[in-house]
Amino acid sequence: MDTIAIVLAAGEGKRMKSDTPKILHRAAGKALCEWVVDAACEATGQKPVLVVGKAADTVKEYFGGRVLYAHQTEPLGSGHAVMAADGYLEGDGYAVIVAGDMPLIRAETLKRLADETARDGLGASLLTAVVPDAFGYGRVIRGENGGVVRIVEHRDATDEQKAIHEINLSIYCFQKALLREALATLTPDNAQGEYYLTDCVEYLSGKGHYVKAVSCYDNDEWMGVNDRCQLAEAAKKLRGRINRSLMLSGVTMIDPDNTYIDATVSIGQDVTIYPGVTLEGGTVIGNGAVLYPGSRIADSTIGAYTTVQNSVILNAVIGERTTVGPYAYLRPGSVVGSGCRVGDFVEIKNAQIKDGAKVSHLTYVGDGEIGEKTNIGCGVVFVNYDGKKKSRTVVGKNAFIGCNVNLIAPVTVGDGAYIAAGSTVTHDVEEDALCVARSRQRNIEGWAKRRREE
Ligand code: UD1
Ligand code: CA
Repeated sequence: MDTIAIVLAAGEGKRMKSDTPKILHRAAGKALCEWVVDAACEATGQKPVLVVGKAADTVKEYFGGRVLYAHQTEPLGSGHAVMAADGYLEGDGYAVIVAGDMPLIRAETLKRLADETARDGLGASLLTAVVPDAFGYGRVIRGENGGVVRIVEHRDATDEQKAIHEINLSIYCFQKALLREALATLTPDNAQGEYYLTDCVEYLSGKGHYVKAVSCYDNDEWMGVNDRCQLAEAAKKLRGRINRSLMLSGVTMIDPDNTYIDATVSIGQDVTIYPGVTLEGGTVIGNGAVLYPGSRIADSTIGAYTTVQNSVILNAVIGERTTVGPYAYLRPGSVVGSGCRVGDFVEIKNAQIKDGAKVSHLTYVGDGEIGEKTNIGCGVVFVNYDGKKKSRTVVGKNAFIGCNVNLIAPVTVGDGAYIAAGSTVTHDVEEDALCVARSRQRNIEGWAKRRREE
């Protein structure tokens, strides 16, 4: 069956009070509308059509070639929005229509709607739910045979119709040809002066087509996001889904309600995650890693059995059985090997730390390389910037850099070399050498006593 999905995303979203289009606000690592687009894609096996309005440029920049586009030049209603996608409605097959602000909609639900419609050879169907408080929603009016005869918007409803608790969820499946035929009959003859997509139902049922109401079992799925309170609520539910599925795949979460993992992150088995951890973007966590409280890890790879405490890790790669933190800051381009230690108050930027190297405390490693098993003392600075340009420092393997050393780039320290504590190194140090680059200590006997007595 050929089914195309149409995602309606031309609404204005004024209640977000934002410069960002509503559908691009993010929840659990994806834009609101991206959740819908992905579900639609999975359900139909093809690129959905995104109906965009005023914010077309920004939305296009975000989705690029992942979707097809239709332009609704003026927001004249949901029916008018679908008319804008008319060019995609030619030929046989079905169109699934879904609002773009329902991030919790599942691919299975869209697929079930489309499958039931095709299986029963129906002209149209829609998802409905029975709710205690139907205020604001379109009410589903059923005929004697159980089919839907029309949908009445809350503002157009009589008191009797308002007493109906079955509501339209704004998720439909139509035979494309019948949809086009119905769209052509729409008029803005209602309380809001809009072209209502819902009026297509009345037209088709009037033509003798049975329009089926398909139940949506999970009321979270059709939750729309209109303001930032609903955004937070939807994000929380999405995180709940992500965390549940991770726990079922073998991840331990000490407090899943306070663990923030994007949909795009992948996590191995037997990983333990403490509260207050945020994992973003393309992050990958290896088996058995332990993420202690309070870290933010974005677009980074953490190797198996590595532990991270209270650290910020951005665009970095860390090997296996390494310990990071507490309070380490790994900036883009940091590549740390296996069996390493990156301790407290260490900042690394665009630098490679080879296997077994240790950078334990209070150190800045910028634009450099540290060889295998080298030990970097406390408070070492890779001085990478002369005020004009950045330069690199290369330290070989099995070297020892004493505490409070400044390595002024560009400079190279050979394998096995030692740098005395407090040295400021401006020239290369050959392998196995000892470098002492500081003035010799001089003690002046009795100096302090004489000064006091003066
Ligand atoms: C709509 C339904 C209502 C249903 C409710 C469920 C209609 C007429 N009514 O009402 O029966 O109970 O959803 O939430 O459809 N849109 C555009 N362009 C427009 C107008 C809307 O793209 O000019 C998009 C919106 O971005 C949104 C969807 O269509 O994704 C629904 O529009 P909205 O105005 O929110 O309809 P409701 O009044 O909520
Ligand atoms: Ca709405």
